[in-house]
Amino acid sequence: MTTQASAESLTEPVVELSGIRKVFRQILAPEERPGVFARLFGRGAAQPAGGDEGRNGRQNEPDPGEGGVEVLSGINLTIRSGEFVALQGTSGSGKSTLLHLMGLLDSPTAGTYKLLGRDVSGLSDDGLSALRNTVLGFVFQSFYLVPYATALENVMLPGMYSDLSQAELRARALELLKKVGLADRVNFRPANLSGGQQQRVAMARALLNQPRLILADEPTGQLDSATSAEIMRLFTQVNETGTTIVLVTHDEAVAAKARRVIRIADGRLQSDTAAARA
Ligand SMILES: Nc1ncnc2c1ncn2[C@@H]1O[C@H](COP(=O)(O)OP(=O)(O)OP(=O)(O)O)[C@@H](O)[C@H]1O
Ligand SMILES: [Mg+2]
Repeated sequence: MTTQASAESLTEPVVELSGIRKVFRQILAPEERPGVFARLFGRGAAQPAGGDEGRNGRQNEPDPGEGGVEVLSGINLTIRSGEFVALQGTSGSGKSTLLHLMGLLDSPTAGTYKLLGRDVSGLSDDGLSALRNTVLGFVFQSFYLVPYATALENVMLPGMYSDLSQAELRARALELLKKVGLADRVNFRPANLSGGQQQRVAMARALLNQPRLILADEPTGQLDSATSAEIMRLFTQVNETGTTIVLVTHDEAVAAKARRVIRIADGRLQSDTAAARA
């Protein structure tokens, strides 16, 4: 594994993972896995339907002594404030699982995760939800917008964790929609927006609580190359204002916009290289 020091080594750590291991009791097909949307928004928004699915992870975790399938192992990784990191690896290598751990959407089987210097292992589900919704922003391949809500309502969704009034939240959401180029679409529902426009709404939503870290899982995976380039320009702008970004992508042109590329293979870090931004 290669590691290169960069200017970022002077700034504070945002993500510190040490000795991270993740074991699932059994491998589940994507459609059988618990959805992340419900875990993303809201206190109590995603009470477990039963079984072993905890709201903030511990889903599909083997009991002590049981075997299980190891999907991440020996992950030691520090990401510092202001970095723009692309996470790459073949399908099934563990990228989304790692992103979900960083996003407090799941918890590791072993190892320590410090988010902004704070060990998150002792936090309650409510504590995790509050932290997640105040310091993290998420963007996914399939946008995860609420279909019956307007663009503006979608952007305001994480506002319940903010101290701002409804009027202030609305003003901030409108400002963000303007920033992502959708000032004239604020009352449109997702079905009446293009894929690129929907992803812009999702980006505005991710920015509502002024997160320290944005986690994006294949955010351009459903977009054509021109639209993908527009979305990447937005990510670059957001990063230039100081927000740390970790972005999973299969697309080399997308990864080239990051300044650090981390490759993972079979659940282990394979390489970690600083890159000149394209
Ligand atoms: N909730 C889950 N329960 C059981 N197995 C899971 C779960 N999530 C992922 N897996 C399995 O863990 C492994 C890593 O999956 P993960 O989704 O992290 O890979 P990925 O690198 O994101 O792949 P892709 O590029 O296809 O999105 C795979 O074998 C996958 O089937
Ligand atoms: Mg994935």
